[in-house]
Amino acid sequence: RASGRTRAVLPGEIGVRPGPATLRQSIIVPTYNERDNVTALLARLAAALPHDGTEIVFVDDSTDGTPEAIEEAARHCPIAITVHHREQGEGGLGGAVVEGMRLARGEWVVVMDADLQHPPEIVPDLIAAGLRDGADLVVGSRYAGGGDTGGLADGYRKLVSRGSTLLVKTLFRNSLLAVSDPMSGLFAIRASSLDATTLRPLGYKILLELIVRNRPGRIVEVPYGFQARHAGESKSTAAEGVRFLKHVAGLRFGPARLRMLAFALIGLSGLLPNQAILWALLHLTDVHYTAAAVAANVVAVGWNFVLTDTLLYRNHRRRGPAGRFARFFLMGNADLLLRIPLLALLVSGLHLGVLAGNLLTLVASFVVRFLISDRVIYRA
Ligand code: GDD
Ligand code: MN
Repeated sequence: RASGRTRAVLPGEIGVRPGPATLRQSIIVPTYNERDNVTALLARLAAALPHDGTEIVFVDDSTDGTPEAIEEAARHCPIAITVHHREQGEGGLGGAVVEGMRLARGEWVVVMDADLQHPPEIVPDLIAAGLRDGADLVVGSRYAGGGDTGGLADGYRKLVSRGSTLLVKTLFRNSLLAVSDPMSGLFAIRASSLDATTLRPLGYKILLELIVRNRPGRIVEVPYGFQARHAGESKSTAAEGVRFLKHVAGLRFGPARLRMLAFALIGLSGLLPNQAILWALLHLTDVHYTAAAVAANVVAVGWNFVLTDTLLYRNHRRRGPAGRFARFFLMGNADLLLRIPLLALLVSGLHLGVLAGNLLTLVASFVVRFLISDRVIYRA
């Protein structure tokens, strides 16, 4: 499933990757428009790391000529370098890191940012700590004793960082007991504890994804000071924040349960148009209340369809709009077969108000459908 092109910049011929997995360490660096950072990064990595037994794998989604800048800098770098450029940028930062993990051949796989916010000099310490403590995963931490978040741009970013850390520490309490900085973009993992095939990252938080899905045995931390960006600016946006919440919710609840929750919420929102239309028809026209209830339901089903179709299944459409609507429409109105007789009983038989009766039948229908789904379709 690898996309894009890979080039072994050094040593030797372009496109040829040297020998079997005998390397001590692979450094994976995701890059998105980091043209002005890669030269300094490579110089400092080369000064900090043994040249033999190390490879640096760039996974690049840039549009600013970053691969060319890497190839230029690589001429002066004694470490083997691979640049993998992707055209689609699938999965964003996390997707790039997973792609790099597939290409990496070292016994240790280190992930770090290209903008020098992660000091390259710390990389040997990560691996040394892993070897010394027999760890599977070593997390570079800004929140462990001795680390700091100095390079976070402003108070707002610090607050977001603290808040999101607290959120995931709460949601994934047991997996993160030993981890003070689950949002870190700097870590080293033993290749033997890594299973990149299980990772489905969405955006930035690849370490969290890795811990929750791969469950590395022993985790240790190495504190470090988060630096200011060398050049350029952060690629993280507000949209990235929304992606993060989706990622966390999917990791915690699983995609199916999450969709069910969203489906239920959208269904609940349908009460609004349903009751409003019913009220309007009763007050502004003199149609019979059962006909009005049918019309109100039809409108509410349309409302639910639009929301479900655009918010929930936009990327999962398998048929044309007419086909989707027809099926949804039939399913959404099927319960009228039971609801209308029940409504007639409540209103004409028991003299309940139409709006109250309608609400009751909607609640009853919801409970029945939930029980069927819970007991018959699923088994919770
Ligand atoms: N290939 C690729 N594709 N690389 C990307 C993409 C992408 O879509 N988006 C960002 N990157 C690269 C950047 O080029 C950089 O090397 C690295 O990922 C981090 O991106 P930044 O934009 O500098 O992120 P940040 O500084 O806001 O956030 C970093 O620090 C946070 C801690 O405060 C990241 O490491 C976060 O994971 C971390 O939580
Ligand atoms: Mn950064």
